[in-house]
Amino acid sequence: MASKLIAPSVLAADFANLQRDVEMINNSDADWFHIDIMDGVFVPNISFGMPVLRDIVKHATKTIDVHLMIVDPDRYIKTFADLGSNILTVHYEACTHLHRTLQAIKAEGMKAGVAINPHTNVSLLEDTINDIDLVCIMSVNPGFGGQSFIENTYKKVQQLKEIIVRNNASTMIEIDGGVTNKNAKQLVDAGADVLVAGSYVFKSENPIETVKGLKEIIG
Ligand code: DX5
Ligand code: ZN
Repeated sequence: MASKLIAPSVLAADFANLQRDVEMINNSDADWFHIDIMDGVFVPNISFGMPVLRDIVKHATKTIDVHLMIVDPDRYIKTFADLGSNILTVHYEACTHLHRTLQAIKAEGMKAGVAINPHTNVSLLEDTINDIDLVCIMSVNPGFGGQSFIENTYKKVQQLKEIIVRNNASTMIEIDGGVTNKNAKQLVDAGADVLVAGSYVFKSENPIETVKGLKEIIG
C-alpha cells in the first residue's frame, strides 16, 4: 500500500497572505492542496472561487484536490479542469446522474472524486465504486472549517474499505473535517488513505511541524 497522504485545506489559510501559506504547503511534508469551493446553496457558506484558485495554482507545486460543495457541479467541470485541478470531487447529494458526472470529470483528464455527507450511507456507492478514484467521507457537516470530528466516521471508513476490496477497486479514501493528531492514526488504521486538515494545520504555531507530526503519526 502506498504511503498515506496529508492534504492541508486552504480554507483555513490567511487569505491576505495566501502566497505565503501556499509556499508553506509547498515546503512542508504535505502531499496535496485541498481546495474547498462553496456556493452558499449546497452549503450555508461561500468560500472562494475561480480567481483565487487560479492564483493558488500559479504558486502550488503539489496535486490540486478540489472539493466542490456546489449544486449542479456538471456546469463547472471544464472550468476546473482548465484552472489546473488534478482531482475533482463532487457531492453524491448534488448529483442526479452521478455516473455521467464521473465520466465527464475523467474525460477532462482529472481524477474523479465523490464526497458523502455524514448522513449518506457508503453502501450507496457500491454500484459506482469502480468508476470512483477517490471517496471523500465528510467527518463534519460540510460548510465550515474548525468543527468537531464525528465519531461515526471510523465505522464508515471500515464499511467503505470492505466495498472497495469486494469490488477489487483502487479507490482512495479521504477524510475531511476535524482531523487532528488525536484521530489520524485510528483513521488510517480503519482504511483511510488521505487526511484533509485545515484548522489543525493553519491555526497551529508551526504549520510545517504540525504537518510533519501528522505524517509521522500516519506513517
Ligand atoms: C468543510 C471542508 C473541509 C474543511 C476542513 O466543509 O470541506 O475541507 O476545510 O477544515 P477543518 O480541518 O478545520 O475541519
Ligand atoms: Zn473539503
